[in-house]
Amino acid sequence: MFISSLQDKVVIITGCSSGIGLATTRLFLERGALVFGIDIGTIPQKLSDDFSTFNFYQTNLVDSQAAEHAVAKCIGKHNRIDVLVNCAGVSDGWNSADTITFSDGDVDGEWERVMAINLTVPIRMMKAVLPAMKEQKGGSIVNVASKAGISGASAGIAYTASKHGLVGATKNAAWRFHQEGIRCNGVLPGGVATNIASSVQMDQFDPAGFNSFFPIVQLHVSKDSEGTPVPVIGVDDVARGIAFLASDEAKMINGAMIPIDNAWSTI
Ligand SMILES: NC(=O)c1ccc[n+]([C@@H]2O[C@H](COP(=O)([O-])OP(=O)(O)OC[C@H]3O[C@@H](n4cnc5c(N)ncnc54)[C@H](O)[C@@H]3O)[C@@H](O)[C@H]2O)c1
Repeated sequence: MFISSLQDKVVIITGCSSGIGLATTRLFLERGALVFGIDIGTIPQKLSDDFSTFNFYQTNLVDSQAAEHAVAKCIGKHNRIDVLVNCAGVSDGWNSADTITFSDGDVDGEWERVMAINLTVPIRMMKAVLPAMKEQKGGSIVNVASKAGISGASAGIAYTASKHGLVGATKNAAWRFHQEGIRCNGVLPGGVATNIASSVQMDQFDPAGFNSFFPIVQLHVSKDSEGTPVPVIGVDDVARGIAFLASDEAKMINGAMIPIDNAWSTI
C-alpha cells in the first residue's frame, strides 16, 4: 500500500475539471486523499469513475454565496477540511494600463472578471474553510499563483495584479494563523499547457501587450520542429509541488512561494 501524508486527508480543490486542478485532483486521489472538487465546468468523469473518494460540486465560484455553500457541502459530507487548494483561475487578454477595460453597467470589464476569480474567490474560499481549520487546530492552504505573481513582465495588468494580490494574501494568511497550526503557501508555475488560453476573451485581446510580454514568456519554453513555443513544465510537475506543500512533509513551510518553472523565476 502506498503510504503518504495525504492519506485520508479531506481536500477541497477548485478548478478540478481541467489543467493543473485536474492533475492535482488525480494525484491527491492516487495518494489516498478524499477530494471534494469544485468547478464551473463539467464533472471530470474519468476521476469520478475511477475513485469513490472523489466528490464533485459544480458552481460558478464568482457568485457571492458560492464559496460558502461549496465548503458547507464538503463539511456536510466529511465533517472536516484538512487542505484547500485554490486553483481555479482565468487568463487576461494581455491588456495593460492603456487598454484594460472596467465593468460599466451591464458590460463586463476585464479587470473585474479576472480579479474576481483569481483573487476574490481564493480569499472567499479561505474565509469559508478557516472556521473548520481553526476548530481542528490545523489545516493547509495552497494557492496557485504564477510567475506573474512576482514579475511585471509576463502577463497583462489584470492577471499580474491578481496574482501579486494572491501572493500577498497568502503571506498574510500564513502569518495570521501560524500559531493555530494552519499553513498557507503558494506555487508560482511558469507556462503550462492547459486550457487556460480558452479563458481569454478575444474581443478584449491586446496585440501590443501580447507582443511586449510574449518574448519574456518565450525565455522558458521549448520550440517544436515548426518553431512553435511548447511549455516544458507539465501539469503533473505543478501537481507534485502542490501535494508537497499541502502534506505534512512541509509542516514547517508556511508563507512560502515555490516557483515551478525550471529557473524562469531567476530572471
Ligand atoms: N497554464 C499556465 O501556464 C499557468 C501558469 C501559471 C499559473 N496558472 C494558474 O493555474 C491555475 C489553473 O489554470 P490552468 O492553467 O489549469 O487552466 P484551465 O483553464 O485548464 O483550468 C482552470 C479551471 O478553473 C475553472 N474555473 C474558471 N473560472 C471558474 C469559476 N468562476 N468558478 C469555478 N471554476 C472556474 C475552469 O472551469 C477550469 O476547469 C490558474 O489559477 C492559473 O492562473 C496557470
